[in-house]
Amino acid sequence: MDMVNGEMGSQQLLAQAHIWNHIFNFINSMCLKCAIQLGIPDTIHHHGQPMTLDALVSALQIHPSRAHCLDRLMRILVHSGFFEQKKLAPDGRGAYVLNRVSKLLLTDNPSNVAPFALSMLDPIVINPWHGLSAWFHNHVDPTPFEMVQGMSIWRYVGQEPGLNRLFNDGMARDARLVASMVVNEHKGIFEGITSLVDVGGGTGTTAKAIANSFPHMECTIFDLPHVVANLEVSENVRCVPGDMFESIPPADAIILKLYAVDTP
Ligand SMILES: C[S@@+](CC[C@H](N)C(=O)[O-])C[C@H]1O[C@@H](n2cnc3c(N)ncnc32)[C@H](O)[C@@H]1O
Repeated sequence: MDMVNGEMGSQQLLAQAHIWNHIFNFINSMCLKCAIQLGIPDTIHHHGQPMTLDALVSALQIHPSRAHCLDRLMRILVHSGFFEQKKLAPDGRGAYVLNRVSKLLLTDNPSNVAPFALSMLDPIVINPWHGLSAWFHNHVDPTPFEMVQGMSIWRYVGQEPGLNRLFNDGMARDARLVASMVVNEHKGIFEGITSLVDVGGGTGTTAKAIANSFPHMECTIFDLPHVVANLEVSENVRCVPGDMFESIPPADAIILKLYAVDTP
């Protein structure tokens, strides 16, 4: 093996560090998931003032033998931009506060991203990634998910009520922000349209926002049966269960928002 010294050695070290960073990238996602599952953002929020590690350990009912691990978790989360640390005491010990990122993880924030994060970081969704290289040698299954789980992710979530709820909730919260911008800032694109169908429209956040702003328009939420079952509708909103690869209800305009292509 060649000895590496001087500039060549430090270049190689940087290259190795680059690979190590990618090897351990999953730690960031998993720490985010852990923070959401432990309820750290809500706990700091309810505390109402900068929260010390001791106060956090106690509020989360973490066993004292794990307190130093919570310290390490919080260091990662501060480093990756989820919380900030304010210096409180002269001994240099800090206290955690929310920033604009962790505010997006609060349960009572209408744009809460936590349900989406938990659905995307569920083992059912993550596992197929382990089969990515095998999938490149597989000419049958359209996606790694289908290769591993035997059906499309959309159908699979229909069999997993918890994941279905998380995923639909996550999508709805994302759609809330986008829909309000579309109807407030781009009204002109709806001119002359009297009917519209949102294909793969989830639980209808976008269609309902459009229907509210344009009461003369008939809006249809079209999605798989497990998504639109039991949806509340209003006078100019209807809900149609079905499969877009078979047929879609007729309308003047179609919305396809955030649909990742796969086949039936
Ligand atoms: C990424 S989500 C987007 C939801 C919504 N458009 C939004 O932006 O919030 C994709 C949606 O397409 C729906 N979908 C997937 N396959 C479908 C199919 N074959 N027919 C109808 N809807 C389908 C899923 O159930 C899911 O609600």
